[in-house]
Amino acid sequence: MHLADPADPFSAVTHAAPYDYYRRLADGPPLRFDAALDCWLATGAAGVQAVLEHPACRVRPPGLGVPQNLAGTPCGAIFAELVRMNDGERHAVPKQVLARALAQVDLARLQRQVAHLAGDRVPASAAQLNEAIFQLPLFVMAHLLGFAPAQWPALAAWTRDFVACLSPLSNGEQLAGAQEAADSLLQGLGHLLREGNARPGSLLASIATETDAMGSGLLANLVGLLSQTCDATAGLLGNAIVALHAQPELLAQLRASPERWPAMLREVSRHDPSIHNTRRYTVDVVECDGVRVPAGQMIVVVLASAGHAESGFGHGRHVCPGQSIAHAIAAACLQAWADRLEDLPLTWSYLPSLNARIPVFSMGEIA
Ligand code: HEM
Repeated sequence: MHLADPADPFSAVTHAAPYDYYRRLADGPPLRFDAALDCWLATGAAGVQAVLEHPACRVRPPGLGVPQNLAGTPCGAIFAELVRMNDGERHAVPKQVLARALAQVDLARLQRQVAHLAGDRVPASAAQLNEAIFQLPLFVMAHLLGFAPAQWPALAAWTRDFVACLSPLSNGEQLAGAQEAADSLLQGLGHLLREGNARPGSLLASIATETDAMGSGLLANLVGLLSQTCDATAGLLGNAIVALHAQPELLAQLRASPERWPAMLREVSRHDPSIHNTRRYTVDVVECDGVRVPAGQMIVVVLASAGHAESGFGHGRHVCPGQSIAHAIAAACLQAWADRLEDLPLTWSYLPSLNARIPVFSMGEIA
């Protein structure tokens, strides 16, 4: 059956087979104006890299650090501080602190811990799998931050409620839930920090030694570590499960050579990534390949059309510092779940989103 092409990069995110469309976008000009969307598109490796590296392409529109619907709210207070949502000094110093702390995580040890956690939570149905791809990565991040296991389920639930404030598709009820969750997350992290007994070796302990560098954004960026983990890592896990179903021979190969898991996940991040696009706003004229974008414009950066590493984790100043951790979590979960996943007759569609590709599984017919 021939599927109609996606209408634009936003509908491509949840389209069943969007990659021919992305390849065609990549074959076109690296920067173009899309009249229907009334914004610019940066496509292909050249367009994506040029915009993500350009000093005049910022993560927020000038003068609008926080979206209007979040201004003056707990979600807005977090949003305003996130390294992901700031440029310049407000970004550079805290980003270094976070990146340093994340780089100190012992990945081999982490993988052993995740294998244990995931082995105790093997999903036995599509519904449990849909829950687990979100929950496990958040449990792991809560553990890395230094929270005790009894606190993980609440933190995971608050994080999932909080991320609703970052999606333009959320309704009033979800936005209200996000505000309550933002308060709870700030309180939970504040409490752990004030207790002064951050577990030695935890992310919180290493970031807390640099409170000055983090400035007022410390708690918000700790919330950010949870929220940045949430959808993106669920998508990586889900898309890897889709790949295992689409290519049944893969699982046998991975069983025979488990050292191939990292390469398998790199392929998934590249060919079926979980984050398909991001946005930038021009504060000055931007020129690329003879195309001139005036100041004050929005550019949708179509990461999924880049066809290499940028497809998954970004590039340039805001490149993701969590890539190795996300891959370590996913590799350990999938190894722990592989035998069970083989027996689950899964079908899938995608959760509604304008930028994250996250499968939602149902039980299909046994072939
Ligand atoms: C498969 C999982 C993940 C994917 C696909 C992913 C993807 C991305 C992308 C595309 C960006 C750049 C956004 C932009 O430039 O506009 C980003 C930024 C970021 N990610 Fe990830 N991410 C993942 C997991 C994680 C995890 C597990 C963490 C935390 C440990 C994390 C923390 C961050 C942070 C803090 C930023 C902001 C960096 C900055 O603005 O300087 N990510 N991520």
